[in-house]
Amino acid sequence: MKIVKVKDYQEMSQKASSVLLDLIAKKADPVLGLATGSTPIGMYQSLIKAYEQETVSFKHVKTFNLDEYVGLGRQHPNSYHYFMNEKLFKHIDIGSGQTFIPDGTANDLVVECQNYEQQIREAGQIDIQVLGLGLNGHIGFNEPGTSFSSRTHVIDLMESTRLANARFFDSVDEVPTQAITMGIDTITESKLILLLVSGEKKATALARLINGEVSEEFPASILNRHPNVIIIADEAACRCR
Ligand code: GLP
Repeated sequence: MKIVKVKDYQEMSQKASSVLLDLIAKKADPVLGLATGSTPIGMYQSLIKAYEQETVSFKHVKTFNLDEYVGLGRQHPNSYHYFMNEKLFKHIDIGSGQTFIPDGTANDLVVECQNYEQQIREAGQIDIQVLGLGLNGHIGFNEPGTSFSSRTHVIDLMESTRLANARFFDSVDEVPTQAITMGIDTITESKLILLLVSGEKKATALARLINGEVSEEFPASILNRHPNVIIIADEAACRCR
């Protein structure tokens, strides 16, 4: 794992976006794996800026998101469909046929997971998968205990994860209890993993990822076994306790 230490959130966001822009400039059919949460918002803003300055086009890009809440439709303000549209897609030249996010309102969620895997396969390998880090080490919504060999699946969210994400909802009761997430095996098939970590709150999790053992009890630890991982972490997150 290559660890790039940066000063703050802004520098992390700029560095991350430049890694993506580099791929988009070089490759004819780039496939990006995207994440939600607060961490990648600055990176998305930086991509939008590059688009507005006419230094990039997304017309040849495909994107796959990591996860979606079960039960929230694409118009729900807390769905990840809505998040991606607001934070990135509606600001750039990417069509709806180029962006993929699991459908948390599908009648048959198991079939939806299989379809999502199929769509990823058809696009070829994900070139760069962007990840945030959950406080309990989750990546996507793969909670502690998830098998390293998991593919896209439905997961029961832990109470601690629902609490951590309650800040986006009116109350914790409104946070869905389940989500669809790419599996650990799906995520680690990506050619390059770009993990973004910002803020003191994440310092303990980052330290465990770097120094702890590789275990399904701490899903992000799998990244130690991936040949091509870049962690961009700011000073506050590196102040490991
Ligand atoms: C959610 C998302 C993850 C994200 C994590 C951290 O649970 N499913 O993909 O990495 O939150 O979120 P944040 O970036 O807001 O700390």
